[in-house]
Amino acid sequence: MRCFLVLFLVLPLAAADPKLIERGKYLVENVAMCADCHTPKTEKGELDRNKWMKGAVLDFQPLGAAPPNWKKTTPDLTAGSRLWVKWGELSMLKYLTTGLTPKGEPSAPPMPAYKFSRTDAEAVLEYLKSLK
Ligand code: HEC
Repeated sequence: MRCFLVLFLVLPLAAADPKLIERGKYLVENVAMCADCHTPKTEKGELDRNKWMKGAVLDFQPLGAAPPNWKKTTPDLTAGSRLWVKWGELSMLKYLTTGLTPKGEPSAPPMPAYKFSRTDAEAVLEYLKSLK
């Protein structure tokens, strides 16, 4: 019993590895560019730091006809958002490593189908969990 208690106390702390969060931040902001689509812009057209990764209305679409399932909005990706509550961390992990939603389907455009390595996907998730 005592052993279980210790595990419960230690595991969440161990998960929030600052290096992993830093790597996730780098992937989200500089490699996969999630923030560009999932953060609203200010009137000046800059990404709004106060609404970081909180979901946005996209300000672009294809020059020609957009595919019929083209989405104009993106969901809030910060932990605690409706999406996290609905999917849970395991489905998020599966999604980032396979590009498939819990229903086993890809998302609608322009959401890219990412196939991160498990470590990179975990880094992205740890970063998202570190956001308020
Ligand atoms: C080019 C714009 C764009 C980029 C870049 C982008 N997203 Fe998205 N994302 C979207 C759109 C649009 C949706 C809504 C898709 C839908 O409803 O099917 C979405 C939906 C999602 C969803 C929910 C999927 C669903 O089907 O409901 C998750 C999770 C997600 N994005 C995570 C990320 C992460 C993590 C990154 C970076 C690694 C990222 N996105 C980068 C546009 C983008």
